[in-house]
Amino acid sequence: MSENKIIDESKQGEVLLIAAPENANGKKLFLESYGCAMNFSDSEIVASILKDKGFTTTQDFTEADVIFVNTCAIREGAEQRVRKRLTDFKKAKKSNPDLIVGVLGCMAERLKSQFLEEEKLVDIVVGPDAYRSLPQLIEIAESGQKAVNVLLSKEETYADIAPVRLDSNGVSAFISITRGCDNMCSFCVVPFTRGRERSRNPETIVKEAQDLFEQGYREVTLLGQNVDSYLWTGGGLKKEVISEEELKNATTFAQLLEKVALVHPDLRVRFSTSHPKDMTDDVLYVIAKYENVCKYIHLPVQSGNSRILEMMNRGYSREWYIERINAIRRIIPDCAISTDTITGFCSETEEEHKDTLSLMEWVKYDFAYMFSYSERPKTLAERKYKDDVAEEVKKRRLQEVVDLQQKHSGERTREGLGKVHRVLAEKVSKKSDKHLSGRNSQNLTVVFPRENYKPGDYVNVLATECTSATLIGVVVK
Ligand code: SAH
Ligand code: SF4
Ligand code: F3S
Repeated sequence: MSENKIIDESKQGEVLLIAAPENANGKKLFLESYGCAMNFSDSEIVASILKDKGFTTTQDFTEADVIFVNTCAIREGAEQRVRKRLTDFKKAKKSNPDLIVGVLGCMAERLKSQFLEEEKLVDIVVGPDAYRSLPQLIEIAESGQKAVNVLLSKEETYADIAPVRLDSNGVSAFISITRGCDNMCSFCVVPFTRGRERSRNPETIVKEAQDLFEQGYREVTLLGQNVDSYLWTGGGLKKEVISEEELKNATTFAQLLEKVALVHPDLRVRFSTSHPKDMTDDVLYVIAKYENVCKYIHLPVQSGNSRILEMMNRGYSREWYIERINAIRRIIPDCAISTDTITGFCSETEEEHKDTLSLMEWVKYDFAYMFSYSERPKTLAERKYKDDVAEEVKKRRLQEVVDLQQKHSGERTREGLGKVHRVLAEKVSKKSDKHLSGRNSQNLTVVFPRENYKPGDYVNVLATECTSATLIGVVVK
């Protein structure tokens, strides 16, 4: 996440590996994931369920018995990439007729059994709330039938399943705190693919954080589509009306964040994603109060224009968003802020696009994920508005946003020069095995000489040089 990119997803097509289980059944699973952190976190649940059944993983899909692709449906491009990948697996299936290919995640939920008709060689289609049924579905597929479970749930949070940490540096881990989304932003497919919002029992969240700390992890990221709307009142869907009594016994996001912060001062806590309409000052005070809660907020704005925000059904205006940024600056002066933007949403004029640029100029984000609008079937925008901004205009506006963000990110990185940063070492640097790389509280990558340090150590680094998105420095004792 250290460079500003025009990206389709945060990670793409990553293959996930687990250690061989004791009850190995000799079957090999190839598990590839696309999309957001929630999807990667879900893959760890899938791996846990299948590991219990004796599966091992492989990095080579040609030697797999089962191939699962955990898919993303957020933009057209994301889906195209998966479809292309499925053609590779079709070839593998031709040389191994017993091979089972399954589609998991958001695309599975969006297309349901249509997937089996379109992609003839897919055997299993499973939505994000149905992973507990994977072992049975594999058995059905092994008997030669097609298997589909795309039921969305009002309760499922997989709270009792200990995720297998995949692709792990042993330092940072994701913890899901909510599933689904109740917001209905008009451009967004997530409420359709992930269903209604559910909060997870806070005790299981704190327990997971404690277990991770004991295993040597030093950073957890609490995940939800809108973490600020986390509310535990005993499980199930959020009630429309909550009595005062229920609220007294409930756990809010600010309270949950505090509980996780208290697990250990050496356990860093991050969270994503914050929603501008729901982010309260309570949360900001908890971030300010605890040194181990990272001073970094991802607060997607989408557009800097109030008419477009209204059409997007985001629930806030430009002015409201500015007020929230002011609150962050007031309560947590050293907080880094990042965003997501969409250019060329339905009917967006040149003036309205400039409002996004001027807002960016005012905030000076540390980092941004920037996209051009991609119309998604069944969403409110698809039904109500015309996707009428020409593709080349969308792309040109996106480039302007990217160029501006590049400048701001560079400035932000340079501001870190000459300062001492507390860095959590995460891994050996990609460019040199004599260096370690980690991040400071503000989520900026910092590289420093390895010496005798190892991933999981906290190190104070004086930044002496930088590239556009990375600080390079020396350790100070
Ligand atoms: N829950 C998060 C967003 C999850 S999706 C939030 O509300 O901020 C991640 C990002 O993808 C969104 O913030 C948005 O910028 C982008 N996105 C979602 N749907 C899109 C679409 N149809 N076209 C282009 N970008 C989209
Ligand atoms: Fe999509 Fe909006 Fe929910 Fe984010 S808050 S997942 S953009 S509907
Ligand atoms: Fe994609 Fe689903 Fe995440 S659509 S962005 S994988 S919630």
